[in-house]
Amino acid sequence: MKRIWWKEAVVYQIYPRSFMDSNGDGIGDLKGILSKLDYLKELGIDVIWLSPIYESPNDDNGYDISDYYGIMSEFGTMEDFDTLLEEVHGRGMKLIMDLVVNHTSDEHPWFIESRSSKDNPKRDYYIWKTGKDGGPPNNWESFFSGSTWEYDEATGEYYLHLFTKKQPDLNWNNPEVVKDIYSMIKWWLDKGIDGFRVDAINHMGKAEGFPDDPNPEDQRWNTGYKMFSNLPQVHEQLQKLNKEVLSHYDIMTVGETSGVGPQEALLYVGEDRNEFNMVFQFEHTGIDSGVQGKWGVEPWSLLDLKKIMSKWQTELYEKGWNALFFNNHDQPRAVSRFGDDKKYWSESAKLLATYIHTLSGTPYVYQGEEIGMTNVAFDSIESYRDVEILNYYREKVVEQGQDRDEIMKRIHHKGRDNSRTPMQWNTSEQAGFTTGTPWIAVNENYPTINVEDQLHDPHSIFNYYKELIQLRKKHDVFVYGNYELILEEDEEIYAYTRTLGDQKLLVILNFFGGTPTFRLPNSLKVEAKELLISNYSVEENEQIEEVTLKPYEARVYLLK
Ligand code: GLC
Ligand code: CA
Repeated sequence: MKRIWWKEAVVYQIYPRSFMDSNGDGIGDLKGILSKLDYLKELGIDVIWLSPIYESPNDDNGYDISDYYGIMSEFGTMEDFDTLLEEVHGRGMKLIMDLVVNHTSDEHPWFIESRSSKDNPKRDYYIWKTGKDGGPPNNWESFFSGSTWEYDEATGEYYLHLFTKKQPDLNWNNPEVVKDIYSMIKWWLDKGIDGFRVDAINHMGKAEGFPDDPNPEDQRWNTGYKMFSNLPQVHEQLQKLNKEVLSHYDIMTVGETSGVGPQEALLYVGEDRNEFNMVFQFEHTGIDSGVQGKWGVEPWSLLDLKKIMSKWQTELYEKGWNALFFNNHDQPRAVSRFGDDKKYWSESAKLLATYIHTLSGTPYVYQGEEIGMTNVAFDSIESYRDVEILNYYREKVVEQGQDRDEIMKRIHHKGRDNSRTPMQWNTSEQAGFTTGTPWIAVNENYPTINVEDQLHDPHSIFNYYKELIQLRKKHDVFVYGNYELILEEDEEIYAYTRTLGDQKLLVILNFFGGTPTFRLPNSLKVEAKELLISNYSVEENEQIEEVTLKPYEARVYLLK
């Protein structure tokens, strides 16, 4: 397998609005990030991914860009950005930006021109259609509730928006759009950034002729809408982008591609494909979704997780590369969702970390994950900020009259604001995030869950992450080893080996609060072993042929 730096890296995602506020206006900013670079260095991560920091009216917190060349004034200036980049590089880390080019803001000058008249030169920068039978051009449904089409009075036509109506989709069939986007990407790369996380990019191609979707209820985040997900045009465009722009720089790229399985993913990340280095897939985050799709609150089964992830681990091995994550700014907190954020908070957070960091692929840590930050449950819809949550509530409760408590329950479990409450730095007011009033409330558990306490506690979740990250750097088998599932049918224990030449890891994970017995399969001969990491203290010479595991116990052995 080809060795390369981004396979060996651990990436840390920053959601700038919620990371650190430097000037007391309640909004995280670039100077705030700058003040925490030593913290990130201490954690040991290699690459920082910044969620969007471009100029934006913030309908979707920066994922609606009105100027690709400007920094959002709430976050700082271009000078602040240049300093940040320099300081990141000065500490031996890299920085990747979010690239949002499926759509812009409706306040981007291109769209303002585009909507002004049918013969404006920018008209075809976006996708405009006439209505059908007094309604929108087709039945496509937006990711954030309602039709994907918005009627625009000025010209009597509809424009397409897969996300909010303030996020009109760019028309990638227009060579002028392609040219302008390429220049912008080059401009950032020439500044010396180290790559991109490419937002919602699998939606850049739309079904030809814009036909009705035969199955509009198809669940968006999991299976992806067939009419605008992973179509062949996407690959044509990405190969061209790679050839003309990306391949000229030593960078990393990770595409966000909902709705792909491993074989489809290989079209994006296959080593001979020249598109992206890796993609974010969402099959595993769909295990608790059920018929309600994204908003479902279903029990999940370990067998499903094993089946899905084993498929990804084996089908991509030596052919393409995985991105590994449970948390990001769109997902609820994993320790609340797949662990136990009460009784076994620390143990289960460490268990989930062990899992992500011992699989084949590049691990991503989302801010606060490294201290086990949890979901929030605000009582009132007024406390929420996310446009997806607010639209969902309006549609279900206000418009359709569905049961408020049920909808709030789903928001508590699945809403994106779970991961967007301010980073919990210390026990001072507002968790040390701001001296003012934060744009979204701080999770009230900050007196017990915060960075400062964990830095000083050798058994903290933070220090566990630090150790895991160091282990990857020390043993190649963490990065390049081949994954093999063992105890396939076990409903509580997830165990596997990773093998590279004569190095072999054995990973044993008790995913729940019970005390099941681990039995070493006969096929695995253990002559000598070294315990590399565990979330309980384990006797060094304990035999592992048969072990009763503690709740959420995780162990990683190097077998000899
Ligand atoms: C991606 C982002 C999400 C955003 C959407 C529209 O899924 O991760 O936060 O709302 O794209 O840009
Ligand atoms: Ca600020």
